[in-house]
Amino acid sequence: MFVVLFLALLTNSGFCQDDEGPYRGKHLGKLNSYHHQVSGDVYAVDDYTLLLTSFSYDGNGADTFFWAGAANRPGPQGFIVPDEYGKTNVLARYFNRDFTLTLPDNKKITDIKWFAIYDLLSQNTFGDIYIPEEFEPPTVQRIPQLAGKSHGVSSTDIEIIDAKRIKLNEFSYDGGSKKAHFWVGVGPQPASKGYKVPDEYGYVDPIRAYKTETITLELPGDLTIFNIDWFSIFDLETKENLGSIIVPDGLNVPPSLVKVIPHKDHLPNCLQLHKDFQVSWEIFGPQITFQMAGQIDENSYMSFGISGSTERSQMVGSDVTVAYMGGSSGFTTDYNITALTPCVKVLGQYKGVCKDELVGGQDSNQIHTAVRENGISIITYRRNLISPDHGDKEYPTEGSIYVVWAIGRLDKNKEPTFHDFYPKTNISVELNPKEPFSNCFSFTRSDTQLREPWNKGQIYDKTIRIFKAYLGPSGGKRGYQGTTGQTSTSLAWYINGYLAPELWLRRGLTYAFRVYGGNNPHSAEFYHPLIITDEPHGGFDRLSDEAQSKIRVLAGVEYSRRGRPRPTAAGALCLAQHRNVNDRRLDDDFPSFKKFNRSLEYSCEDGDPGILEFTPNTSWPDIVYYNSFTQANMGWKIHVIDSFSWRSQGTTLKINYFIIIPI
Ligand SMILES: *[C@@H]1O[C@H](CO)[C@@H](O)[C@H](O)[C@H]1NC(C)=O
Ligand SMILES: *[C@@H]1O[C@H](CO)[C@@H](O)[C@H](O)[C@H]1NC(C)=O
Ligand SMILES: *[C@@H]1O[C@H](CO)[C@@H](O)[C@H](O)[C@H]1NC(C)=O
Ligand SMILES: *[C@@H]1O[C@H](CO)[C@@H](O)[C@H](O)[C@H]1NC(C)=O
Repeated sequence: MFVVLFLALLTNSGFCQDDEGPYRGKHLGKLNSYHHQVSGDVYAVDDYTLLLTSFSYDGNGADTFFWAGAANRPGPQGFIVPDEYGKTNVLARYFNRDFTLTLPDNKKITDIKWFAIYDLLSQNTFGDIYIPEEFEPPTVQRIPQLAGKSHGVSSTDIEIIDAKRIKLNEFSYDGGSKKAHFWVGVGPQPASKGYKVPDEYGYVDPIRAYKTETITLELPGDLTIFNIDWFSIFDLETKENLGSIIVPDGLNVPPSLVKVIPHKDHLPNCLQLHKDFQVSWEIFGPQITFQMAGQIDENSYMSFGISGSTERSQMVGSDVTVAYMGGSSGFTTDYNITALTPCVKVLGQYKGVCKDELVGGQDSNQIHTAVRENGISIITYRRNLISPDHGDKEYPTEGSIYVVWAIGRLDKNKEPTFHDFYPKTNISVELNPKEPFSNCFSFTRSDTQLREPWNKGQIYDKTIRIFKAYLGPSGGKRGYQGTTGQTSTSLAWYINGYLAPELWLRRGLTYAFRVYGGNNPHSAEFYHPLIITDEPHGGFDRLSDEAQSKIRVLAGVEYSRRGRPRPTAAGALCLAQHRNVNDRRLDDDFPSFKKFNRSLEYSCEDGDPGILEFTPNTSWPDIVYYNSFTQANMGWKIHVIDSFSWRSQGTTLKINYFIIIPI
């Protein structure tokens, strides 16, 4: 991955404006050329890695390798340096190539005296370069702590990891300043002219409070550590520097592996909503043209629209466009948000995040162009400033309006599921400014590591016959999404205190769920009777008759005399929730479900649970699923087994824990 990304970076011109071209590490020099047209430049990237640029060799040596050693000059005393693919084959022809080489066996550049293109058969050096005495390869540079000035800003030392990344160790800030940002710029000291640095999650909104947290920030767009003189926590409203460091010149740091993807052809006004999402627009006559550009995967959507409130950014009541690519076509669907839940049918009416067309409105967007290039979806659409659909909001040409946005995954019906990225702050924008407004920067991509999902919850205990089912947050990518591989809504079933665990139940025994999923059918968000079906999604109520007919419901649904399905197990609502101070966008920071669970607050409404009693029999398949009647993707697997004894004969399955909960 290292090599691939690095090459991608090098072949991508025009992302760094340094006179000498992009920063590539410490220059060791040009290869001395003796034979076979060897030429090129050599850089040290870090302790172990060399970068060759514009490297050429005619490929005519018989037994020629990259070769390095600690003797005084190139000779038979040495070792092969594997080629750019990590192979130790005889070298073929190279023409003007850029690539990295990693020394074998954790050898360091400082352990060798020379690097050569060497022919073992003829013991002939075709080209070489010497490593100077006292050579210091690029490495992480440390700067003493932030000079904190106010609002509790402090840190221990700060590490410049490479040309684009800054790591703040044990960073604190009380969150009390209104428009504080990570902020960088040039000049002798922090000033209001500068660049926003997205936070550790890529948000460009004012930063949250931090409590001795260690975070890594990436400089936006094509900015590098060599383009800036200072890094600050800066309040853009009061123009106050809350804490800062001076970045020394000429830091000997590794080059950045981040790929910069310029995206310049946006419309004249452009608002950067997140590191991976920008929206640009232009008003012309009675119409407004928007372009959404998002670095999202192909199963994700991006959405943007007018807030549901005129005083703040608010999802409920908003009028948004959900845009995504489906194959080579783009879609820009007009949505109406009446509740913070995927669209559900509440007593025959659609509520939640629903298509305008479903709630009696019309789709007012006219798609213009849609492409996906370099992993970025770029979708342009047009609409009238004043829509003929009275449910739509008006786009004012004067003054500013509050907007909302989100990025999330699409479910299998291409409907938006719970968003992964969304703002928590108020965002207002002037749609028709006197001078075009833009704060957009190039997209960047790095090899971000996916974090392991939390341990899967598993309940394998033959003594448990009664399960308590209540509702709780689905967690971030490491929660429901990570452990089940399904997209999630904001809520999931918690069974006996576990987030959507797998259950093992024995055929022939009678079990019961005590269901606390809410029993008010008027609620779009909190009405979840429990059902058991032979498919993993549920949300039975929302499905068409045809889709329903394909599903085998094993428990939890009965049919009225008119043949309509009715849930049988709805009960009072018990809900685990984030505490007010907790930001659910940071759920992935919890190392385990146990720790996450401890951060939640539990509350129950008065009333009895619904009881779902059932006896899996021989007609049940081996795997069934507990689900919500109204909403898809809230539950998970039940293994129906014939005996509990198989585990004692050596397990094929890793069981993480057992639990025994007396009820
Ligand atoms: C969106 O929902 C609101 C509230 O239910 C309604 O007033 C409005 O007309 C709806 N918009 C459309 C396009 O149906
Ligand atoms: C957004 O604005 C509203 C109204 O001015 C205010 O009550 C709210 O606290 C603001 N939210 C944030 C996150 O600043
Ligand atoms: C989650 O928290 C609830 C309430 O505090 C507790 O009853 C339950 O056992 C916890 N779950 C786990 C797996 O620790
Ligand atoms: C087996 O279970 C299904 C679903 O719960 C039920 O409809 C059926 O009557 C049961 N069969 C027997 C023989 O009890």
